[in-house]
Amino acid sequence: MYGPQGSGGSAPRPVRKVTVPEIRARKGGSPISMITAYDYTMARLLDEGGADMLLVGDSLGMVVQGHQTTLPVTVEEICYHGRAVNRGARRAHVCGDMPFMSYQVSPLQALENAGKLIKDGCFESVKLEGGEEIAEHVRRIVTAGIPVVGHVGLTPQSVHAMGGFKVQGKGDDAALRVIEGARALEEAGAFAVVLEAIPPDVAEEITRTIAIPTIGIGAGPSCDGQVLVCYDMLGMYPEMKPKFAKRFAEVGEQIMAATRAYIEEVQQRTFPAPEHTFKANGPRRIAKPEDEKLIPDAEIPPHWQTH
Ligand code: KIV
Repeated sequence: MYGPQGSGGSAPRPVRKVTVPEIRARKGGSPISMITAYDYTMARLLDEGGADMLLVGDSLGMVVQGHQTTLPVTVEEICYHGRAVNRGARRAHVCGDMPFMSYQVSPLQALENAGKLIKDGCFESVKLEGGEEIAEHVRRIVTAGIPVVGHVGLTPQSVHAMGGFKVQGKGDDAALRVIEGARALEEAGAFAVVLEAIPPDVAEEITRTIAIPTIGIGAGPSCDGQVLVCYDMLGMYPEMKPKFAKRFAEVGEQIMAATRAYIEEVQQRTFPAPEHTFKANGPRRIAKPEDEKLIPDAEIPPHWQTH
């Protein structure tokens, strides 16, 4: 039995899923922990570690596929990873990112693709980037019974418009735009909103003035929850080191050390050792032609004879 609620007891207790109303009810309460995940094995570990929410972020375009931005990711790819993550998430709520150009065109397009994420990707909610300009799209999705997480501040799908991955909401006008964006998402029915790379006082004001939980990434400590990309959190993605991406482990170092140790043992022929090797067959016995006929032809029942 695994799962934070299941350890310690003798009889395994079923693990209950974290629900949208529960996440919403944590506004101002116990902070929500969200982590990205892209595959079954990682999802299972993060779930067992106690993460409340797993996000199949379109960051997979960068950390899994090796692109420079999140822009090439498709709905089908998000769904593929969603199905894998879903199998590993017994307790955590699983949210899927709507990729670039899968929701911007119209509220109807947004609804259709949100529906695909729920049906084909096994997601329990979807996340969209943007503020007032996508509020109508969020409303349409929520009206169909699909829970939505908003995302304002640094919205990576607008990387070219922003001139790079840069802190947003600096200065009064920019701060106001982020604040109004978060309010528009709340008004449209989002049940939580991610605040990415904004000054902590702007995040604090949003968190204080909206009724849905804020989940920060580079938005300071006053948010109702935090989110990190799993490979950043684990020290496995050296390409980009944002200030906010605290490494809680150096798994990348461990993987490289393990790889070096493996290669060394392969070279020295100390791996595989006897405990990694199957039982030997023993000295080979050359079969004599008469040995091959275990039953003389005359004794073979007619219905066994195929020729
Ligand atoms: O794509 C992603 O991983 C995200 C998180 C960083 C919030 O949007």
